[in-house]
Amino acid sequence: MSWSLEPNPLSLAIAQKQKSGAHLLDLTISNPTHISNYPHSQIAAALSAVRDFRYHPDPFGLPGAREGVAGLYRELGLDIPVSRIALAASTSEAYALLFKLLCDPGDEILIPTPSYPLFEYLAALENVRTVPYRLAYDGAWHIDFAHLRRQISDRSRAIVLVNPNNPTGSFLKKWECDTLFALAAEHDLPLISDEVFLHFEFGSDPARVRTLASFPHFLSFSLNGLSKTAAMPQMKLAWIVLNGPAADVERARQRLELLLDTYLSVNTPVQLALPALLEIGDWLRSEIRARTGRNLRTCRQALSPSAAHPLHAEGGWSVILQFPQTRSEEEWIELLLGENVLLQPGYFFDLHGGAYAVASLLPDPEIFAEAMQRIAKLLAIA
Ligand SMILES: Cc1ncc(COP(=O)(O)O)c(C=O)c1O
Repeated sequence: MSWSLEPNPLSLAIAQKQKSGAHLLDLTISNPTHISNYPHSQIAAALSAVRDFRYHPDPFGLPGAREGVAGLYRELGLDIPVSRIALAASTSEAYALLFKLLCDPGDEILIPTPSYPLFEYLAALENVRTVPYRLAYDGAWHIDFAHLRRQISDRSRAIVLVNPNNPTGSFLKKWECDTLFALAAEHDLPLISDEVFLHFEFGSDPARVRTLASFPHFLSFSLNGLSKTAAMPQMKLAWIVLNGPAADVERARQRLELLLDTYLSVNTPVQLALPALLEIGDWLRSEIRARTGRNLRTCRQALSPSAAHPLHAEGGWSVILQFPQTRSEEEWIELLLGENVLLQPGYFFDLHGGAYAVASLLPDPEIFAEAMQRIAKLLAIA
């Protein structure tokens, strides 16, 4: 663990702002449990309806809970047998399990960049190295396959993709999927597909691939969980769907069973309450979709006359803003903090080659709109 444990300069500046009593318009929040109409009492009712607290440990999770997860895929038109669904306490834990399953110490996994900043930590904690492959932007995001090909080595053990990706909000397209499968097959690399934002699309596009669970011809692992799908990260329940030819899936399943049995980390009450939690999650998802859609429209409108603009986004909970390079990314973030607007710098997500900031689309629409006005105003004078 050779990481710096010191707070970064931005965290220090934020702490100072907060100490001064400033009211920050915080566009970094990604925690859905703080939204104003969060259904606390409905969740309480779902949990208190659990009446049987006997322990029936099952490495893959209780069949009823896995059946609830299978129901989510049925809504997508996919019939997934519960034998292919394994529960874990979080997607982070699912990653750790899959890295244990697929890698020896010193092996490599290929990760997209820009993307979710936790990969480096999750992999290092399993003694696995992350090797980035580029996502390119030219009005839309796509995989830079020439780069991905160059990054594959004899230590590569899996290709990770985040679909839709965080923070770019880009979906894998059908043509990309074909190329990805061909490359993965050529190098015998299973795919790990993080699909936690799968239900959060802006508009629809038939070219998008929403889950690798619909591809039975090649070994892949689809990850998802209550964190985003039901906006309940506090419940600590996620899942892995094993996809692929029966013999490959069975081989992975047997080893995964041993890994899961070693920890048995998913608690029983949340599994028993899962069907009811998923119903509440269904409502929460539509609330969040309405909110993120509204905030995205506000962002596009507010910034259209300015020199900053949002990059093309197809889904997820955030939007990337590109600022003119008349100033550095840090300078823009600092100037905005001076206006009490808090954004995440692009470099947090390995976004390079410009001045970028990432805005969460989850905040209250009034707060979000006020922040966008302040950004537009700052750009008019800066
Ligand atoms: C792409 C992605 N995957 C996984 C997670 C975390 O999920 P969990 O809470 O299930 O570990 C996040 C959280 O922001 C995320 O952005």
